[in-house]
Amino acid sequence: MKVILDLDTGIDDTLALVYALASEELEVIGVTGTYGNVLMETGTRNDLAILELFGHKDVPVFAGEPHAITKDSFEVLDISAFIHGRNGIGEALIPEPEGTVRDQGAVDFLIDAVRQYGEDLVIVATGPMTNLAAAIQRDATFADNATIVIMGGALTVPGNVSPWAEANINQDPEAADLVFRSGAKVTMIGLDVTLQTLLTTAETAQWQQLGTVGGDFLAEATDYYIKAYETTAPHLGGCGLHDPLAVAVAVDPSLVTCLDINMKVDCEGETRGRTIGDEEKLNDPKKSVKVAVGVDVERFLKEFMSRITKAAAQTAPRG
Ligand code: BDR
Ligand code: CA
Repeated sequence: MKVILDLDTGIDDTLALVYALASEELEVIGVTGTYGNVLMETGTRNDLAILELFGHKDVPVFAGEPHAITKDSFEVLDISAFIHGRNGIGEALIPEPEGTVRDQGAVDFLIDAVRQYGEDLVIVATGPMTNLAAAIQRDATFADNATIVIMGGALTVPGNVSPWAEANINQDPEAADLVFRSGAKVTMIGLDVTLQTLLTTAETAQWQQLGTVGGDFLAEATDYYIKAYETTAPHLGGCGLHDPLAVAVAVDPSLVTCLDINMKVDCEGETRGRTIGDEEKLNDPKKSVKVAVGVDVERFLKEFMSRITKAAAQTAPRG
């Protein structure tokens, strides 16, 4: 299966990218950048640097939309900088990338790839859905032919930026609503499942013990993220593996149990950013969205650790 990752990199986006690179079932044909945890430009810089660190400088990176549909600019929220660090990777320092983003924009790359590969391609989007919404608006055939797994939303649990809204949806509710209601095949990996998949320093210590640059980087960045979770969500006892779970589901959908629901996003009033069933399509026998409500935590964590550790072990020895 070919995969495009649409990322706002971001510490858990980093783990999602490495999970994809380490998965023999997937061929990463490109990374498209969005804003969210960081500015879009910071995210694509991180993508390029991480790809080079992990020996995949051949994977092209494309710059996406820099802000939400209804806005004309974007500023990183204080809470995002607190959770991911100002540089998006927990203040870890890795070499500046040699490569640069491609001339083609992310939205056109997504459109071309869906036209070329159809069902053989899955798009995993782990930031605001602005690039996907733009592709749907620009190309009338995109929604019918795209297969998408998103990290975003919350159906059975509260949001994480407000009682209603999860962070990725909150950044651009109009874009997420457009994607959900477009009829595209979407699997929603929301807080319902990602807050069940937790990582602690007991696991990151294994990466540190590898004695490699990749192991050191992932341990340092993820420890920063775990520390932030100790402040923002101490009841969890670890950090949420939001974005890598979305990639894992693209590899193996049987990791989650889903409800078939035609979803929408509230865009007005107090509940702005809430992901909920679309009452107007309640009786439509065709359901385009699968919402994950259960996850095989043990099996996912085993896959996660073995894949990430393998990729980190293959990077250069610590200098
Ligand atoms: C999502 O928001 C971002 O901070 C994370 O990278 C993840 O994609 C979790 O709500
Ligand atoms: Ca993300």
